[in-house]
Amino acid sequence: MTNNIYLIANWKMYGSIKSVNSINKVIQLSKKPLLKNINIVYCPPFTLSHIFAKKLKNSKINVGAQDCYIHHDTGPFTGNISAKQLKNIGLKYVILGHSEKRNDGDTNKIINKKIFAAIKNKLKVILCIGEKYEENIKKLTIKTLKKQINDCLKNIPKKNVIFIAYEPVWSIGTGLIPKNEDLEKIIKKIRTIVLKEKKFINSKFLYGGSVNEKNIKNLTKIKGLNGFLIGGASQNSNKFIDIVKKTII
Ligand code: PGA
Repeated sequence: MTNNIYLIANWKMYGSIKSVNSINKVIQLSKKPLLKNINIVYCPPFTLSHIFAKKLKNSKINVGAQDCYIHHDTGPFTGNISAKQLKNIGLKYVILGHSEKRNDGDTNKIINKKIFAAIKNKLKVILCIGEKYEENIKKLTIKTLKKQINDCLKNIPKKNVIFIAYEPVWSIGTGLIPKNEDLEKIIKKIRTIVLKEKKFINSKFLYGGSVNEKNIKNLTKIKGLNGFLIGGASQNSNKFIDIVKKTII
């Protein structure tokens, strides 16, 4: 793990007005000097984006979205939300290419357009990549990741800070996690592709998939990671606080 750690809370399609106050405890914790190197980013569903942005405005915690539209500005695109609109309400990050969005039809080409839209509006991109179970079994992991990186980052200016979140699809919400030694090898390879081959020198690297309060301590041992993308366990503030505390090194 690096010294400056990012913990991204992906609330997916969960959370209601009532659940907003559940993060008060996390806000209190974030003020402690011990957390000076921990960067927490909440990514609630769009319905709560504005409330979160207002609530966290004067705190150390940032807010992100779980997607944005391919068109960067405003326009006649019913049902969509642009990066410009996200920026307008104070969001700083956007998750793109999550496997649950890929399941909905997001291809690498679409994700690439969304990345352009996001960086045009100065949102920091958290790009999710990851192989499916069948690809893992057939030892196609690196090939799959390489293609996702190449296609999603095609023609994106290299100076941008891109967070690459490695999320094996078979790990998301399943409780299954690759062994530390396998993860370390894959993260090393991803770093080589992104930093050395593609020359995105400002990139940061995250792991996501079934991260919880029980396995986080072990996962912090993995070299080359800048943090974690946490789904299920981030929606419960007690569990999330436990994760945050155990991440402090
Ligand atoms: P999970 O989700 O932590 O619930 O597995 C991670 C994610 O989807 O980003």
